[in-house]
Amino acid sequence: MATTRIHRLVLAFPAGLAVVAGALAAQAAGDPVAGKAQYEGTCGGCHSVDANRIGPMHRGVVGRRPGSVAGYDYSPAVRRLGGLWTTARLDQWLQGPQALAPGAKMYLSVADPAKRADIIAYLASVSPPAEPVRGARHQRARTVDAGAKR
Ligand code: HEC
Repeated sequence: MATTRIHRLVLAFPAGLAVVAGALAAQAAGDPVAGKAQYEGTCGGCHSVDANRIGPMHRGVVGRRPGSVAGYDYSPAVRRLGGLWTTARLDQWLQGPQALAPGAKMYLSVADPAKRADIIAYLASVSPPAEPVRGARHQRARTVDAGAKR
């Protein structure tokens, strides 16, 4: 019977299951290498890591205050956001910038959660490590509060 055969296969290859579970975990965390290619393809028309273009430059965006790159002319909607860009908040932004900041000048959203995770992993890889200063945890909590009130 087919079910018996599958059962035997599963029993025979627990290591195979571990590999599958590992791959799923890696996907949830996001792959910065895949994210770089996706960033260049999807975001690169307007953004670059090191220069302001149609959108602001992205180096250091994780942990930075929204609307804070010098020399970039942000909308009031983004400047008013407050708090910090966390990976969770970037995920929200990429699901719909207009929902997070009505009136923002960016309209593109990324529907695929795995693709968002990869792009955000790439943005984190061009940002300083999380919590470089004391009290960053505090600021992050405030970011969540500010988001919840909107
Ligand atoms: C068609 C142009 C365009 C594309 C494509 C685009 N953006 Fe933007 N993005 C903008 C503009 C314009 C702003 C400034 C928004 C404002 O001031 O309201 C912005 C702002 C941002 C910000 C806020 C940065 C800050 O300094 O506060 C982030 C983060 C961001 N974009 C990420 C992305 C990512 C990631 C992608 C690709 C998935 C992407 N954008 C694709 C135009 C674009």
